[in-house]
Amino acid sequence: MAQPTTAPQANEKGTKKAAKPETSPSSASEQKIYKGLYGVVIDYTAISKVNPETNSLTYRGYPVQELAEKCSFEEVAYLLWRGNLPTSAELAEFCRLERDLRHLEPGLVDLIMGLPKDCHPMDTVRTAVSWLGCQDEDPFTRDTPHVRDCARMMWSKLPLVVALDIRRRQGKEFIEPDKNLGMAENFLSMVFGREEGSPALNPDDVRAFDKSLILYAEHSFNASTFTARVITSTMSDTFSAVTGAIGALKGPLHGGANEFVVHTMLEIGDPEKAEEWVHNALDNKKLIMGFGHRVYKDGDSRVPTMEAAFRDLAEKHGAQKWVQMYENMSNTMYERTGIKPNLDFPAGPAYHVLGIPVEFFTPIFVMARITGWTAHIIEQREDNSLIRPLSAYNGPDQRSVPDDRG
Ligand code: COA
Repeated sequence: MAQPTTAPQANEKGTKKAAKPETSPSSASEQKIYKGLYGVVIDYTAISKVNPETNSLTYRGYPVQELAEKCSFEEVAYLLWRGNLPTSAELAEFCRLERDLRHLEPGLVDLIMGLPKDCHPMDTVRTAVSWLGCQDEDPFTRDTPHVRDCARMMWSKLPLVVALDIRRRQGKEFIEPDKNLGMAENFLSMVFGREEGSPALNPDDVRAFDKSLILYAEHSFNASTFTARVITSTMSDTFSAVTGAIGALKGPLHGGANEFVVHTMLEIGDPEKAEEWVHNALDNKKLIMGFGHRVYKDGDSRVPTMEAAFRDLAEKHGAQKWVQMYENMSNTMYERTGIKPNLDFPAGPAYHVLGIPVEFFTPIFVMARITGWTAHIIEQREDNSLIRPLSAYNGPDQRSVPDDRG
């Protein structure tokens, strides 16, 4: 069994750290509570910048909209991990390494095939990552190249895991990956095959899907990335950090929202009923999934790009009904509350139009966000400080256990 071989080293850089407070506030009345860490800045990151004032998001300095227009998901993964866009020679080598890893070990296939067919697909993904972590021969290393290798391995295999899980639930044979295809096209081929009408054969569908992966790839200290950083800060291994992040992403307040968006749209059924449905939900103090954001308060920077891709897809697939539903819901929500859609609102129906089963939308989010999570794991390891906040105690005063509890 792999064990730490050396004592944990002190942080080598340590240059940017805020000074530690000399003492901790002791009584609850002295402590200010930052519920949900609302507005708290806990560290630096050079990976992405979310700017709610300008409604912008950059990855390593590049606006995400430009990346979605001009780059492939593979180039964006390289950018997140390496800090710069690849040259064509670097990209070719990077893709070759990824494609070489496109296979699933028999033990992993058996494990997935043995999982209940009605478990949530996020449980499959979480279990698969745990299994891959059992093969890590050097889990306690602080060596960045090793972490990058683990990241690339998960990045390459997760689309295969998701495709296998989709097809086994449909009672269909697994389709072998094609090492000549880009990641988006290969994934759609493994899910839908390459028969006439398959989105894998339609370059517009492939490009729209690729864009969604780019938009989902990274978003600073969101809940799942923060989870990955907390786990990494204890000097635990990359796979444990990713497993925890998957658990955080599954929740409907975070990544799980993209599924709930389409469940809601299907429940409403008719776009003409959207307005009444939204008012009803708000009258009953219900959260409407796909709206609002902890950081953006005036619209999510990623929405215009994804919305345009969704509108294109809907037009080409004769699915205007969902555009009408999208518009009626978002207009009513905005008029009544001033709250705008987040990325999940256009991404969910875009995946639905492509024919992807709804419960697989969040696992697709994992296929994309694995790049951002692992970039943060590397960053956290390279300038680590254990993440351990304080709490203000508000339970009973100290008391003694009575001798007679009769
Ligand atoms: N539906 C209905 N009301 C919403 C809402 C939504 N989607 N999002 C926010 N609100 C309401 C809140 O209930 C709150 O109302 P109140 O002041 O009467 O209590 C008010 O708007 C302000 O919300 P705020 O506290 O600023 O939001 P937050 O930062 O705590 O939460 C989210 C952000 C993302 C958790 C929240 O918007 C939400 O739950 N959205 C739905 C889930 C979702 O789409 N998640 C994906 C995020 S990318």
